[in-house]
Amino acid sequence: AARLVVAVDGPAAAGKGTLARRLAAALGLPYLDTGLLYRAVGRRVLDRGADPADAAAAAAAARALAPADLERGDLRGPEADRAASAVAAIPAVRAALLDWQRDFGRRHGAVLDGRDIGTVVFPEATVKLFVTASVAERAQRRWLELQGRGVAADPAAVEAELRERDARDAGRAVAPLRPAADARLLDTTALDAEAAFAMALALVRERL
Ligand code: C5P
Repeated sequence: AARLVVAVDGPAAAGKGTLARRLAAALGLPYLDTGLLYRAVGRRVLDRGADPADAAAAAAAARALAPADLERGDLRGPEADRAASAVAAIPAVRAALLDWQRDFGRRHGAVLDGRDIGTVVFPEATVKLFVTASVAERAQRRWLELQGRGVAADPAAVEAELRERDARDAGRAVAPLRPAADARLLDTTALDAEAAFAMALALVRERL
């Protein structure tokens, strides 16, 4: 029988990660945060002193990606956000990461979160969720998360960065951020993490 694959896509700071991790635990499936792959590639490029928008440098970094890169502690924060979104627009980077993601999901089934899981990586996923929230709500959540990690940030700047990253992720030519035609939309603007998880689990169970 085909493995159970749950695709969780959506814009930045919509709560996908928390939701996908909890779904994976509830369903007994491995979890893959695919954003981490792009973040790790961006980090490798920055380490070499190169520009994350440099296609050759970014493609080389993607092909050299090793599991230990995903364990680095500096993959979150504004600089890593920008670098990830820049390398993610480069087709050769996406191509290098595609097999990696597919192999992960096919082995035992999985919950994967990202931007193009339901559209490109697993168009045949068992269940596709597209998780959104208003930009104001997402900016507020990201700001609180930064505060919680002791990172001082200006709320207006956080919102501007989110808008910029979403525009780039949705506007790129290859694998742009968009819901798959058969995705279930989950707007979490007015939901706390617990309520969002309960709704997501109900949507998944409807498809099993
Ligand atoms: O999900 P996260 O915010 O960690 O992703 C970081 C960046 O990686 C996104 O802004 C996006 O540009 C890119 N990404 C992507 N496709 C995915 C996951 C992430 O393009 N499946």
